[in-house]
Amino acid sequence: MKAEINAEMDILLDIDMSFSLLSIKKLNKSFYRDQQTFTVLDGIHLDIQQGEFISIVGSSGCGKSTLLRLIAGLDKDYQGEILLNQTPIQGTDLKRGLIFQEHRLLPWLSVSENIHLALEETDLSRAEKNARVAEHLTMVGLKGFENAYPHELSGGMAQRVAIARGLVNQPDILLLDEPFGALDAITRSHLQTELQRIWQDQKITMILVTHDIEEAVYLGDRVIVMSARPGKIKEIIQVPLTHPRHKDSELLFNYRNQALNMLDHSA
Ligand SMILES: Nc1ncnc2c1ncn2[C@@H]1O[C@H](COP(=O)(O)OP(=O)(O)OP(=O)(O)O)[C@@H](O)[C@H]1O
Ligand SMILES: [Mg+2]
Repeated sequence: MKAEINAEMDILLDIDMSFSLLSIKKLNKSFYRDQQTFTVLDGIHLDIQQGEFISIVGSSGCGKSTLLRLIAGLDKDYQGEILLNQTPIQGTDLKRGLIFQEHRLLPWLSVSENIHLALEETDLSRAEKNARVAEHLTMVGLKGFENAYPHELSGGMAQRVAIARGLVNQPDILLLDEPFGALDAITRSHLQTELQRIWQDQKITMILVTHDIEEAVYLGDRVIVMSARPGKIKEIIQVPLTHPRHKDSELLFNYRNQALNMLDHSA
């Protein structure tokens, strides 16, 4: 009897009740070009917890966008596992928002119509959609610009609309591929602060690809440093500082140097 109880306890102890929101295991991705296979991602292992802010840095071509596209479900041709809540990702889903470097707004639609478009697939009523769009326009500081067209916006404003569009479906995960890359330094800095505030308010898990090391450590709970050809995770830097953070913090500066040092040796 005692042996039986012990065996049962062992089984119970073996079951891990905590699991990650997103779990990437042994992920490999290759492309075929000119009758050759190019391995772009090689053996990626990554567990991301609910509510985490993950930054990904690495040299151009190391596979960052490819990785985001796989997590978004835009590309299903890969080896390994990408599990969301322990279930393999099957194509795109409104619960995973994606924001690109360029805003990709439709020029013939107003700001409000561009955001509405993201709600097309939902079964919300017209009134609920209007309320959601208004709420998200306020969240990104664009109240009053509902009827403006993309050509009437600055780059920073257009990117705010793209952020509102990415958030309007209330995704569990927001994937951001160099969202501020094309903006001037002041606008970028401002939007980084805004993104931190939105992340704290909404408690959405965010994965940000960036070439800006300051941005990566300012926002990230962890900074994933990738190396290239083929893309691998070279190092994961923990940034255990509470949010909201201040850009001039000396501690942040130390993490920035650590990340820079890693990148120098990762090409
Ligand atoms: N559809 C595709 N077909 C063939 N090769 C591709 C395709 N998409 C990406 N690649 C290749 O995969 C590699 C990684 O590309 P990816 O766009 O993921 O890099 P990245 O890290 O996002 O670079 P960057 O920082 O410049 O945006 C590159 O060598 C690229 O040429
Ligand atoms: Mg890219």
